[in-house]
Amino acid sequence: MKIIAHRGNKRHAPENTMAAFRSASMYPVDGIEFDLQFTKDKIPVVIHDSTIDRTTNGRGAVSSYTLSELQQFDAGVLFDETFFGERIPTFSEVLTWASHETFQLHVELKKQTTQENDFVKRCIEEIIEYDLLDRAVISSFYHPYLVEVKKLCPDLHTAFLTKVPILRAIKYAKKIEAEAIHIRHSYHAMRYYRRWAKKGLTVRAYNVHTIKEAFRCAARNVDAIITNDPKTMTDTFKKK
Ligand code: G3P
Ligand code: CA
Repeated sequence: MKIIAHRGNKRHAPENTMAAFRSASMYPVDGIEFDLQFTKDKIPVVIHDSTIDRTTNGRGAVSSYTLSELQQFDAGVLFDETFFGERIPTFSEVLTWASHETFQLHVELKKQTTQENDFVKRCIEEIIEYDLLDRAVISSFYHPYLVEVKKLCPDLHTAFLTKVPILRAIKYAKKIEAEAIHIRHSYHAMRYYRRWAKKGLTVRAYNVHTIKEAFRCAARNVDAIITNDPKTMTDTFKKK
């Protein structure tokens, strides 16, 4: 079973920062996951929320700032003072760094409320520019973005995110041309994992943070878990 580090090594470094990604890469992870938003000047940047309030020392919507304005804010200090100076990374910065690594890149497109035009297109262009089509997977809770990805770049793999099991998931995946489902882990949802996997849909479970949950996923042929604890999970599942 593959291990994907959720927002980097979120438990030990400020989420979605280069520090968190470098920290996750110290372990034998199979992938890192991160979130994209769009700036006022249409640059994809790596941050989970639509505002900078929770993770930086600034306030306001990501979409209300240009990149240079956004990078005035500190994205590390609220997590721990030792991370003072961390910035909100651009997508391009993460791809530059990742092009020297080998793991999968799970790129989650957050739904934009403004500046939506070109968001998907810009993200794809950057992946192509860095020659990372074969290592990137685009995911989103907003499935029209995934349809757009397939229209613009059929070779790029997509995964639809869902918090609940979707009825007729196989049929639905075919309709939107997604290769994978990323489902919020719950014991209730587990009954579907094996059935989907058998029918050729790649199943990745997110919010898998305890060893007990991880073993239950492994027993159900889950392709990967997306976890806040890459150290414990790789220690357990990647034994040499
Ligand atoms: O990849 C799954 C997970 O990242 C989706 O939820 O809220 O952490 O972006 P969230
Ligand atoms: Ca995410």
